[in-house]
Amino acid sequence: MTLWGGRFSGKLDETAWALNTSLPVDQRMAIQDVDGSLAWAHALLTAGILSPDEHVQIISGLAAIRQEFISASFSFAAGDEDIHTAVERRLRELAGPAAGKLHTGRSRNDQVATDFRMWLLAAIPELDTALAQLQSVLIEQAEQAGETLIPGYTHLQRAQPLLLAHWWLSHFWPLQRDRDRLADLIERVSVLPLGSGALAGTPIAVDREALAAALGFNSAAPNSLDAVSDRDFAAEFLFCAALNAVHLSKLAEQIVLYTSAEFGFFELSDAFSTGSSLMPQKKNPDVFELTRGKAGTLLGLLTGFMAVLKGLPSSYDKDLQEDKAPVFAAADTLAMILPVLSGALGSITPRPARMRAAIDSFMMATDLADYLVGKGIPFRETHALAGKAVRLAVDQGLGLDTLPLDQYKSLHPAFETDVYASLDPVESVKRRKSLGGTAPSAVLHQIQQAKNKLKGE
Ligand code: ARG
Repeated sequence: MTLWGGRFSGKLDETAWALNTSLPVDQRMAIQDVDGSLAWAHALLTAGILSPDEHVQIISGLAAIRQEFISASFSFAAGDEDIHTAVERRLRELAGPAAGKLHTGRSRNDQVATDFRMWLLAAIPELDTALAQLQSVLIEQAEQAGETLIPGYTHLQRAQPLLLAHWWLSHFWPLQRDRDRLADLIERVSVLPLGSGALAGTPIAVDREALAAALGFNSAAPNSLDAVSDRDFAAEFLFCAALNAVHLSKLAEQIVLYTSAEFGFFELSDAFSTGSSLMPQKKNPDVFELTRGKAGTLLGLLTGFMAVLKGLPSSYDKDLQEDKAPVFAAADTLAMILPVLSGALGSITPRPARMRAAIDSFMMATDLADYLVGKGIPFRETHALAGKAVRLAVDQGLGLDTLPLDQYKSLHPAFETDVYASLDPVESVKRRKSLGGTAPSAVLHQIQQAKNKLKGE
Protein backbone atom coordinates (compact mmCIF):
# COMPACT_ATOMS: atom_id res chain seq x y z
CA MET A 1 0.00 0.00 0.00
CA THR A 2 1.24 3.47 -0.86
CA LEU A 3 -0.54 6.66 0.16
CA TRP A 4 -1.00 7.75 -3.44
CA GLY A 5 -2.18 4.85 -5.68
CA GLY A 6 -5.45 6.34 -7.01
CA ARG A 7 -4.36 7.97 -10.24
CA PHE A 8 -2.00 5.14 -11.25
CA SER A 9 -2.85 1.96 -13.10
CA GLY A 10 0.69 0.55 -13.33
CA LYS A 11 3.07 -0.39 -10.53
CA LEU A 12 6.24 1.56 -9.67
CA ASP A 13 9.33 -0.03 -11.16
CA GLU A 14 11.35 -1.93 -8.55
CA THR A 15 14.53 0.06 -9.05
CA ALA A 16 12.59 3.31 -8.87
CA TRP A 17 10.95 2.06 -5.66
CA ALA A 18 14.33 1.37 -4.13
CA LEU A 19 15.46 4.89 -4.97
CA ASN A 20 12.24 6.47 -3.74
CA THR A 21 11.75 4.71 -0.43
CA SER A 22 13.06 6.54 2.60
CA LEU A 23 12.07 4.02 5.24
CA PRO A 24 15.61 2.78 5.95
CA VAL A 25 16.51 6.33 6.98
CA ASP A 26 13.32 7.87 8.34
CA GLN A 27 12.23 4.97 10.56
CA ARG A 28 14.37 6.68 13.19
CA MET A 29 11.61 9.26 13.46
CA ALA A 30 8.94 6.67 14.29
CA ILE A 31 8.13 8.02 17.74
CA GLN A 32 8.02 11.58 16.45
CA ASP A 33 5.73 10.51 13.63
CA VAL A 34 3.32 8.86 16.07
CA ASP A 35 3.39 11.83 18.44
CA GLY A 36 2.78 14.26 15.60
CA SER A 37 -0.18 12.14 14.51
CA LEU A 38 -1.58 12.04 18.04
CA ALA A 39 -1.56 15.84 18.12
CA TRP A 40 -3.03 16.06 14.61
CA ALA A 41 -5.82 13.64 15.58
CA HIS A 42 -6.67 15.93 18.44
CA ALA A 43 -6.76 18.91 16.09
CA LEU A 44 -9.11 16.97 13.79
CA LEU A 45 -11.37 16.17 16.73
CA THR A 46 -11.50 19.83 17.73
CA ALA A 47 -12.24 20.81 14.13
CA GLY A 48 -15.12 18.31 14.01
CA ILE A 49 -13.50 16.07 11.38
CA LEU A 50 -13.24 13.13 13.78
CA SER A 51 -16.06 12.01 16.03
CA PRO A 52 -15.11 11.32 19.64
CA ASP A 53 -15.36 7.59 18.86
CA GLU A 54 -13.14 7.80 15.83
CA HIS A 55 -10.69 9.90 17.80
CA VAL A 56 -10.50 7.26 20.52
CA GLN A 57 -9.97 4.50 17.95
CA ILE A 58 -7.17 6.47 16.34
CA ILE A 59 -5.37 7.47 19.50
CA SER A 60 -5.61 3.97 21.01
CA GLY A 61 -4.20 2.57 17.77
CA LEU A 62 -1.41 5.15 17.77
CA ALA A 63 -0.62 4.44 21.42
CA ALA A 64 -0.32 0.74 20.60
CA ILE A 65 1.93 1.53 17.64
CA ARG A 66 4.08 3.77 19.83
CA GLN A 67 4.49 0.85 22.23
CA GLU A 68 5.42 -1.45 19.36
CA PHE A 69 8.18 0.93 18.33
CA ILE A 70 9.44 1.25 21.90
CA SER A 71 9.56 -2.51 22.38
CA ALA A 72 10.98 -2.98 18.86
CA SER A 73 8.12 -5.32 17.96
CA PHE A 74 6.74 -3.19 15.13
CA SER A 75 6.93 -5.06 11.83
CA PHE A 76 7.38 -3.13 8.66
CA ALA A 77 5.61 -4.32 5.52
CA ALA A 78 7.09 -4.59 2.03
CA GLY A 79 4.95 -1.73 0.78
CA ASP A 80 5.90 0.76 3.50
CA GLU A 81 7.35 3.61 1.47
CA ASP A 82 8.35 5.69 4.45
CA ILE A 83 7.71 5.94 8.18
CA HIS A 84 4.49 7.92 7.62
CA THR A 85 3.08 5.20 5.39
CA ALA A 86 4.15 2.48 7.83
CA VAL A 87 2.37 4.15 10.74
CA GLU A 88 -0.80 4.78 8.76
CA ARG A 89 -0.83 1.24 7.37
CA ARG A 90 -0.48 -0.23 10.84
CA LEU A 91 -3.11 2.14 12.19
CA ARG A 92 -5.55 0.84 9.59
CA GLU A 93 -4.84 -2.72 10.80
CA LEU A 94 -5.48 -1.72 14.41
CA ALA A 95 -8.16 0.96 14.20
CA GLY A 96 -10.02 0.07 11.01
CA PRO A 97 -11.58 2.63 8.66
CA ALA A 98 -11.28 5.54 11.12
CA ALA A 99 -7.55 5.44 10.35
CA GLY A 100 -8.36 6.68 6.87
CA LYS A 101 -9.43 10.03 8.32
CA LEU A 102 -6.15 10.81 10.09
CA HIS A 103 -4.45 12.30 7.03
CA THR A 104 -7.27 14.80 6.41
CA GLY A 105 -5.85 18.25 5.77
CA ARG A 106 -2.32 17.03 6.26
CA SER A 107 0.44 16.24 3.78
CA ARG A 108 3.58 14.25 4.23
CA ASN A 109 5.28 17.52 3.36
CA ASP A 110 4.29 19.26 6.59
CA GLN A 111 4.38 15.95 8.44
CA VAL A 112 7.96 15.03 7.60
CA ALA A 113 9.28 18.50 8.35
CA THR A 114 7.52 18.31 11.72
CA ASP A 115 8.89 14.86 12.55
CA PHE A 116 12.38 15.91 11.60
CA ARG A 117 12.31 19.04 13.72
CA MET A 118 11.01 17.03 16.67
CA TRP A 119 13.81 14.54 16.23
CA LEU A 120 16.40 17.30 16.25
CA LEU A 121 14.82 19.00 19.26
CA ALA A 122 15.40 15.75 21.15
CA ALA A 123 18.89 15.19 19.75
CA ILE A 124 20.34 18.63 20.54
CA PRO A 125 20.15 18.27 24.35
CA GLU A 126 21.88 14.88 24.12
CA LEU A 127 24.70 16.42 22.12
CA ASP A 128 24.86 19.29 24.58
CA THR A 129 25.26 16.84 27.48
CA ALA A 130 28.15 15.07 25.74
CA LEU A 131 29.82 18.42 25.06
CA ALA A 132 29.38 19.52 28.67
CA GLN A 133 30.91 16.24 29.82
CA LEU A 134 33.98 16.88 27.69
CA GLN A 135 34.18 20.42 29.04
CA SER A 136 34.18 19.11 32.59
CA VAL A 137 37.12 16.83 31.73
CA LEU A 138 39.02 19.85 30.40
CA ILE A 139 38.36 21.75 33.63
CA GLU A 140 39.52 18.78 35.71
CA GLN A 141 42.74 18.58 33.72
CA ALA A 142 43.25 22.32 34.08
CA GLU A 143 42.82 22.06 37.84
CA GLN A 144 45.18 19.10 38.08
CA ALA A 145 47.81 20.93 36.02
CA GLY A 146 48.45 23.41 38.83
CA GLU A 147 51.29 25.69 37.78
CA THR A 148 52.84 23.29 35.25
CA LEU A 149 54.33 25.12 32.27
CA ILE A 150 53.99 24.15 28.61
CA PRO A 151 55.62 25.85 25.65
CA GLY A 152 53.18 27.96 23.67
CA TYR A 153 53.55 28.11 19.90
CA THR A 154 52.61 30.42 17.07
CA HIS A 155 53.21 29.15 13.53
CA LEU A 156 54.13 25.96 15.45
CA GLN A 157 57.38 27.75 16.41
CA ARG A 158 58.24 28.18 20.07
CA ALA A 159 56.67 31.47 21.15
CA GLN A 160 56.06 32.08 24.87
CA PRO A 161 55.57 29.85 27.89
CA LEU A 162 52.04 29.11 29.07
CA LEU A 163 50.41 27.45 32.01
CA LEU A 164 49.31 23.97 30.95
CA ALA A 165 45.99 24.79 32.63
CA HIS A 166 45.61 27.74 30.26
CA TRP A 167 46.21 25.45 27.30
CA TRP A 168 43.57 22.98 28.50
CA LEU A 169 41.06 25.78 28.96
CA SER A 170 41.79 27.15 25.50
CA HIS A 171 39.86 24.08 24.31
CA PHE A 172 37.01 24.63 26.77
CA TRP A 173 35.77 27.91 25.28
CA PRO A 174 35.31 26.77 21.68
CA LEU A 175 33.10 23.98 23.05
CA GLN A 176 31.17 26.58 25.02
CA ARG A 177 30.56 28.53 21.81
CA ASP A 178 29.43 25.28 20.14
CA ARG A 179 26.94 24.75 22.93
CA ASP A 180 25.75 28.35 22.76
CA ARG A 181 25.24 27.97 19.02
CA LEU A 182 23.18 24.82 19.52
CA ALA A 183 21.11 26.56 22.17
CA ASP A 184 20.45 29.45 19.74
CA LEU A 185 19.51 27.00 17.05
CA ILE A 186 16.72 25.49 19.16
CA GLU A 187 14.69 28.66 18.64
CA ARG A 188 14.76 28.15 14.88
CA VAL A 189 14.17 24.39 15.02
CA SER A 190 11.22 24.92 17.30
CA VAL A 191 8.92 26.30 14.57
CA LEU A 192 6.00 24.03 13.69
CA PRO A 193 5.32 23.22 10.01
CA LEU A 194 2.28 21.01 10.72
CA GLY A 195 -0.93 22.56 9.44
CA SER A 196 0.81 23.86 6.31
CA GLY A 197 -0.62 21.06 4.18
CA ALA A 198 1.27 20.25 1.00
CA LEU A 199 2.23 23.88 0.44
CA ALA A 200 -0.80 26.18 0.65
CA GLY A 201 -2.11 25.62 4.16
CA THR A 202 -5.00 23.47 5.30
CA PRO A 203 -8.75 24.01 4.96
CA ILE A 204 -9.23 22.33 8.35
CA ALA A 205 -9.98 24.74 11.19
CA VAL A 206 -6.90 23.95 13.26
CA ASP A 207 -5.43 26.18 15.90
CA ARG A 208 -1.83 25.86 14.77
CA GLU A 209 -0.53 27.72 17.77
CA ALA A 210 -2.25 25.28 20.12
CA LEU A 211 -0.88 22.45 18.00
CA ALA A 212 2.61 23.93 18.30
CA ALA A 213 2.30 24.16 22.08
CA ALA A 214 0.96 20.59 22.29
CA LEU A 215 3.98 19.31 20.40
CA GLY A 216 6.46 21.37 22.40
CA PHE A 217 7.24 23.90 19.66
CA ASN A 218 7.77 27.57 20.46
CA SER A 219 5.80 28.85 17.48
CA ALA A 220 3.94 27.91 14.30
CA ALA A 221 5.56 28.64 10.93
CA PRO A 222 4.05 31.85 9.50
CA ASN A 223 4.15 30.82 5.80
CA SER A 224 3.00 27.40 4.63
CA LEU A 225 5.04 27.54 1.41
CA ASP A 226 8.21 28.32 3.31
CA ALA A 227 7.33 25.89 6.10
CA VAL A 228 7.35 22.78 3.91
CA SER A 229 10.67 23.62 2.28
CA ASP A 230 12.59 25.30 5.08
CA ARG A 231 15.55 23.11 5.96
CA ASP A 232 17.70 25.93 7.34
CA PHE A 233 17.56 24.24 10.72
CA ALA A 234 19.14 21.09 9.24
CA ALA A 235 21.85 23.08 7.47
CA GLU A 236 22.52 25.06 10.63
CA PHE A 237 22.75 21.90 12.67
CA LEU A 238 25.23 20.50 10.17
CA PHE A 239 27.25 23.70 10.46
CA CYS A 240 27.19 23.52 14.27
CA ALA A 241 28.30 19.89 14.08
CA ALA A 242 31.01 20.60 11.51
CA LEU A 243 32.42 23.54 13.44
CA ASN A 244 32.38 21.52 16.62
CA ALA A 245 34.25 18.76 14.80
CA VAL A 246 36.75 21.33 13.54
CA HIS A 247 37.33 22.38 17.16
CA LEU A 248 37.76 18.77 18.20
CA SER A 249 40.17 18.20 15.33
CA LYS A 250 42.33 21.09 16.53
CA LEU A 251 42.56 19.56 19.98
CA ALA A 252 43.10 16.10 18.47
CA GLU A 253 45.89 17.33 16.22
CA GLN A 254 47.75 18.71 19.21
CA ILE A 255 47.38 15.49 21.15
CA VAL A 256 48.73 13.58 18.16
CA LEU A 257 51.73 15.92 18.03
CA TYR A 258 52.25 16.14 21.76
CA THR A 259 52.17 12.37 22.30
CA SER A 260 54.88 11.86 19.68
CA ALA A 261 58.38 11.00 20.95
CA GLU A 262 59.62 14.32 19.56
CA PHE A 263 57.34 16.35 21.84
CA GLY A 264 56.56 13.79 24.54
CA PHE A 265 54.31 16.21 26.45
CA PHE A 266 51.61 13.63 27.13
CA GLU A 267 51.25 9.89 27.44
CA LEU A 268 48.03 8.21 26.36
CA SER A 269 46.44 5.63 28.61
CA ASP A 270 46.37 2.07 27.28
CA ALA A 271 42.58 2.16 27.25
CA PHE A 272 42.59 4.85 24.59
CA SER A 273 45.52 3.95 22.37
CA THR A 274 46.12 1.21 19.86
CA GLY A 275 49.04 -0.87 18.65
CA SER A 276 50.55 -1.77 15.34
CA SER A 277 50.22 -5.21 13.74
CA LEU A 278 53.83 -5.02 12.62
CA MET A 279 55.79 -2.72 14.93
CA PRO A 280 55.64 -3.99 18.51
CA GLN A 281 56.76 -0.71 20.06
CA LYS A 282 53.88 1.39 18.68
CA LYS A 283 51.29 3.13 20.82
CA ASN A 284 49.11 5.00 18.37
CA PRO A 285 46.70 7.89 19.01
CA ASP A 286 44.00 6.43 16.70
CA VAL A 287 41.21 7.99 18.75
CA PHE A 288 42.56 11.46 18.02
CA GLU A 289 43.41 10.73 14.40
CA LEU A 290 39.88 9.46 13.83
CA THR A 291 38.50 12.58 15.49
CA ARG A 292 40.62 14.68 13.15
CA GLY A 293 39.49 12.61 10.18
CA LYS A 294 35.80 12.71 11.06
CA ALA A 295 35.91 16.50 11.01
CA GLY A 296 36.56 16.18 7.29
CA THR A 297 33.62 13.85 6.88
CA LEU A 298 31.34 16.24 8.80
CA LEU A 299 32.42 19.16 6.66
CA GLY A 300 31.47 17.07 3.66
CA LEU A 301 27.99 16.45 5.09
CA LEU A 302 27.43 20.19 5.50
CA THR A 303 28.75 21.04 2.05
CA GLY A 304 26.81 18.21 0.42
CA PHE A 305 23.54 19.28 2.00
CA MET A 306 24.03 22.95 1.13
CA ALA A 307 24.48 21.81 -2.47
CA VAL A 308 21.20 19.86 -2.25
CA LEU A 309 19.37 23.02 -1.14
CA LYS A 310 20.93 25.33 -3.70
CA GLY A 311 18.53 26.39 -6.44
CA LEU A 312 15.53 24.37 -5.22
CA PRO A 313 12.20 25.92 -6.19
CA SER A 314 9.83 26.92 -3.38
CA SER A 315 7.78 24.31 -1.55
CA TYR A 316 8.52 20.62 -1.16
CA ASP A 317 10.80 18.94 -3.67
CA LYS A 318 11.84 15.33 -3.31
CA ASP A 319 15.46 16.46 -3.16
CA LEU A 320 14.62 17.40 0.43
CA GLN A 321 14.42 13.73 1.33
CA GLU A 322 18.23 13.95 1.28
CA ASP A 323 18.06 16.03 4.48
CA LYS A 324 17.91 13.32 7.13
CA ALA A 325 20.85 11.06 6.35
CA PRO A 326 23.50 13.79 6.81
CA VAL A 327 21.91 15.15 9.97
CA PHE A 328 21.62 11.68 11.50
CA ALA A 329 25.18 10.88 10.45
CA ALA A 330 26.52 14.10 11.95
CA ALA A 331 24.66 13.56 15.23
CA ASP A 332 25.76 9.90 15.37
CA THR A 333 29.38 10.79 14.68
CA LEU A 334 29.52 13.32 17.49
CA ALA A 335 27.63 11.00 19.83
CA MET A 336 30.33 8.44 19.10
CA ILE A 337 33.45 10.56 19.40
CA LEU A 338 32.62 12.91 22.27
CA PRO A 339 32.49 10.25 25.02
CA VAL A 340 35.66 8.65 23.66
CA LEU A 341 37.43 12.00 23.80
CA SER A 342 36.21 12.53 27.36
CA GLY A 343 37.66 9.17 28.33
CA ALA A 344 40.91 9.63 26.43
CA LEU A 345 41.57 13.15 27.71
CA GLY A 346 40.50 12.28 31.23
CA SER A 347 43.08 9.47 31.34
CA ILE A 348 45.96 11.18 29.54
CA THR A 349 49.12 11.81 31.60
CA PRO A 350 50.99 15.10 31.23
CA ARG A 351 54.80 14.97 31.30
CA PRO A 352 55.72 18.29 32.98
CA ALA A 353 59.48 17.68 32.75
CA ARG A 354 59.26 17.26 28.96
CA MET A 355 57.16 20.38 28.66
CA ARG A 356 59.58 22.35 30.81
CA ALA A 357 62.59 21.07 28.82
CA ALA A 358 61.01 22.38 25.63
CA ILE A 359 60.86 25.92 27.00
CA ASP A 360 64.14 27.49 25.92
CA SER A 361 65.43 30.89 26.99
CA PHE A 362 64.62 32.45 23.61
CA MET A 363 60.92 32.11 24.42
CA MET A 364 61.56 34.89 26.95
CA ALA A 365 62.83 37.31 24.28
CA THR A 366 59.61 39.30 24.63
CA ASP A 367 60.26 39.46 28.38
CA LEU A 368 63.72 40.77 27.59
CA ALA A 369 62.22 43.56 25.50
CA ASP A 370 59.69 44.26 28.27
CA TYR A 371 62.57 44.34 30.79
CA LEU A 372 64.12 47.27 28.92
CA VAL A 373 60.70 48.90 28.60
CA GLY A 374 60.72 48.80 32.40
CA LYS A 375 63.94 50.85 32.21
CA GLY A 376 62.12 53.52 30.22
CA ILE A 377 63.21 52.57 26.68
CA PRO A 378 60.51 52.59 23.92
CA PHE A 379 59.31 49.10 22.89
CA ARG A 380 60.27 49.57 19.22
CA GLU A 381 63.90 49.99 20.35
CA THR A 382 63.79 47.25 22.97
CA HIS A 383 62.32 44.81 20.44
CA ALA A 384 65.36 45.42 18.18
CA LEU A 385 67.79 45.18 21.12
CA ALA A 386 66.27 41.89 22.28
CA GLY A 387 66.53 40.62 18.70
CA LYS A 388 70.23 41.53 18.68
CA ALA A 389 70.72 39.72 21.98
CA VAL A 390 69.09 36.64 20.44
CA ARG A 391 71.51 36.81 17.51
CA LEU A 392 74.52 37.29 19.76
CA ALA A 393 73.54 34.26 21.82
CA VAL A 394 72.67 32.04 18.84
CA ASP A 395 75.98 32.87 17.13
CA GLN A 396 77.91 31.63 20.17
CA GLY A 397 75.72 28.62 20.88
CA LEU A 398 74.45 30.28 24.09
CA GLY A 399 71.00 30.99 25.47
CA LEU A 400 69.63 34.35 26.55
CA ASP A 401 70.09 33.14 30.12
CA THR A 402 73.80 32.31 29.58
CA LEU A 403 74.77 35.37 27.53
CA PRO A 404 77.30 37.26 29.73
CA LEU A 405 76.27 40.60 31.21
CA ASP A 406 79.08 42.51 29.47
CA GLN A 407 77.66 41.42 26.11
CA TYR A 408 74.20 42.62 27.17
CA LYS A 409 75.78 45.89 28.25
CA SER A 410 77.52 46.19 24.87
CA LEU A 411 74.01 46.34 23.37
CA HIS A 412 72.67 48.89 25.89
CA PRO A 413 73.96 50.27 29.19
CA ALA A 414 70.54 49.87 30.82
CA PHE A 415 71.10 46.09 31.16
CA GLU A 416 71.83 45.11 34.80
CA THR A 417 72.22 41.74 36.61
CA ASP A 418 68.47 41.66 37.21
CA VAL A 419 68.10 40.88 33.47
CA TYR A 420 68.51 37.16 34.26
CA ALA A 421 65.53 37.14 36.61
CA SER A 422 63.38 38.54 33.79
CA LEU A 423 64.24 35.43 31.76
CA ASP A 424 62.67 32.98 34.19
CA PRO A 425 59.68 31.33 32.46
CA VAL A 426 57.80 31.07 35.75
CA GLU A 427 58.11 34.83 36.13
CA SER A 428 57.24 35.34 32.47
CA VAL A 429 53.97 33.52 32.95
CA LYS A 430 53.24 35.28 36.27
CA ARG A 431 53.52 38.70 34.65
CA ARG A 432 50.68 37.97 32.22
CA LYS A 433 47.97 38.48 34.78
CA SER A 434 45.58 40.54 32.68
CA LEU A 435 42.07 39.14 32.33
CA GLY A 436 42.30 36.07 30.07
CA GLY A 437 46.10 35.90 30.44
CA THR A 438 48.17 32.88 31.40
CA ALA A 439 49.28 33.99 34.89
CA PRO A 440 48.25 31.56 37.66
CA SER A 441 46.03 34.23 39.23
CA ALA A 442 44.26 34.91 35.90
CA VAL A 443 43.91 31.20 35.17
CA LEU A 444 42.34 30.57 38.58
CA HIS A 445 39.79 33.23 37.70
CA GLN A 446 39.29 31.59 34.30
CA ILE A 447 38.70 28.18 35.88
CA GLN A 448 35.99 29.78 37.96
CA GLN A 449 34.47 31.39 34.87
CA ALA A 450 34.50 28.02 33.10
CA LYS A 451 32.87 26.30 36.07
CA ASN A 452 30.18 28.96 36.18
CA LYS A 453 29.47 28.48 32.48
CA LEU A 454 29.22 24.76 32.99
CA LYS A 455 26.73 25.30 35.78
CA GLY A 456 24.73 27.39 33.33
CA GLU A 457 25.37 30.73 35.00
N1 ARG B 1 9.96 10.64 2.59
C1 ARG B 1 9.69 11.99 2.30
C2 ARG B 1 10.83 12.87 2.83
O1 ARG B 1 11.58 12.40 3.61
C3 ARG B 1 8.41 12.40 2.94
C4 ARG B 1 7.72 13.50 2.23
C5 ARG B 1 7.17 12.98 0.95
N2 ARG B 1 6.40 13.94 0.28
C6 ARG B 1 6.05 13.79 -1.00
N3 ARG B 1 5.37 14.76 -1.53
N4 ARG B 1 6.34 12.74 -1.66
O2 ARG B 1 10.97 14.00 2.45
